[in-house]
Amino acid sequence: MNTLLKTIQADITTLDVDAIVNAANSSLLGGGGVDGAIHRAAGSELLAECRTLNGCRTGEAKMTKGYRLKARHVIHTVGPIWNGGRNKEPELLRACYENSLKLAAANGLKSIAFPCISTGVYCFPADLAAEIAVETVRAFLATPTSIESVIFCCFGREDLARYQALIV
Ligand code: AR6
Repeated sequence: MNTLLKTIQADITTLDVDAIVNAANSSLLGGGGVDGAIHRAAGSELLAECRTLNGCRTGEAKMTKGYRLKARHVIHTVGPIWNGGRNKEPELLRACYENSLKLAAANGLKSIAFPCISTGVYCFPADLAAEIAVETVRAFLATPTSIESVIFCCFGREDLARYQALIV
């Protein structure tokens, strides 16, 4: 099962996969961090499609086309804002990974890349976030699915080391 999981250090907007996941906010109308980078790289048509989606609740996911990205689709999910951990933040982060994978599988996608959702401006502790990400993906891949490859795309070296420790 581990052959399906990979971690790399990269800008997620450069990846040639069926879908990259965006760590968006509930408006789905863009922002900073990875969200800003994805909208810049995909071009204004992405924002135009996002405007038709009526936003997205925390833990849920919605899919658009990839436009100028190499990735064919963007799966937008909204991570929880860390507020001490007693507001269901771990469950909501798990739901982001699960709902993104469900959407990818429902559309027959084979390859998907995730950023480290919620660990930037939303302040989710990085170690716990990585554990939740890997556990949730592993559990999902335990049943038959179209998904053949899941990439944890880390922006920084510290995140890369975290994921390497978890998926060897
Ligand atoms: N490729 C891969 N990872 C990246 C990239 C990139 N190009 N740029 C940043 N990261 P954040 P959040 C990493 O803050 O915490 C936005 O304004 C970054 O180093 O982008 O979920 C949205 O609109 C970190 O590890 O997302 C929301 O308002 C990870 O991506 C809010 O931020 C997530 O950091 C969401 O906050």
